[in-house]
Amino acid sequence: SSHRINIAIDGPAGAGKSTVARLVANALQYIYVDTGAMYRAVTAIALERGLSSEQEAEIGLLARELAIELLPGDDGQRVLAGGSDITAKLRTHEVNRNVSAVSAIEAVRRRMADLQRRMADSKGVVMDGRDIGTHVLPDAELKVFLTASPRERALRRFKELGDNPGITLDQLEIDIAERDRKDQEREFAPLLQAPDARYLDSTGLSVQEVADRISEWGRAATRTISAGEK
Ligand code: CDP
Ligand code: CDP
Repeated sequence: SSHRINIAIDGPAGAGKSTVARLVANALQYIYVDTGAMYRAVTAIALERGLSSEQEAEIGLLARELAIELLPGDDGQRVLAGGSDITAKLRTHEVNRNVSAVSAIEAVRRRMADLQRRMADSKGVVMDGRDIGTHVLPDAELKVFLTASPRERALRRFKELGDNPGITLDQLEIDIAERDRKDQEREFAPLLQAPDARYLDSTGLSVQEVADRISEWGRAATRTISAGEK
């Protein structure tokens, strides 16, 4: 049928949200939107301009002026900020350590949520982040809260870093826990499971198993809506 829904996937760092959201979007022929990449883009540009994360007013202004675009690329999503491709600058340890402070700035969050809602306007979007089901798309037809044990999440991230990780597994686990804590404790739109979200613990599950389960939930939600409209 032609019924398309929006799917919100929230959860802590390393839970598998982006990996799985991309697969679900492919399976359903939906558009994938990585909201974390947008907060990382603001953070990377702020650092590049010599701003520190405490300069909230300056960063708020920056977020409001910055044109952020998400484009599909060969190996994942590309991010343009002010017209230039900054994808390669988004996943540095420096950005990792500052992104939660930047994301806690209310003006930054308001601007990003505006852009994200526009992207989801015509439905058929799989959006992953921290506040999608609770704040950005409270009417999403399917909401998933995806998590895994802290050690497993750190290990997944560590494996991605390859032969020159530039950090120990223990330090990475500490950094991730610190980021999760800041994301959960911030005042405006914190990381939180929506009451109507399905909870999915992916510890010990493969990427494909998780993606299949969410795709199936998505198809079921679509069928329910189509049946209700007959
Ligand atoms: O992939 P990973 O979980 O490491 O991070 P991400 O999804 O790229 O998000 C990076 C950071 O952006 C998070 O730790 C949050 O501080 C922030 N973020 C947010 O506040 N709200 C969102 N919807 C998405 C990300
Ligand atoms: O977006 P988020 O921070 O939640 O996680 P991610 O960027 O998708 O990274 C998760 C990493 O764990 C990727 O390297 C995946 O291949 C791996 N992984 C997973 O996502 N899900 C599993 N069930 C098992 C492993």
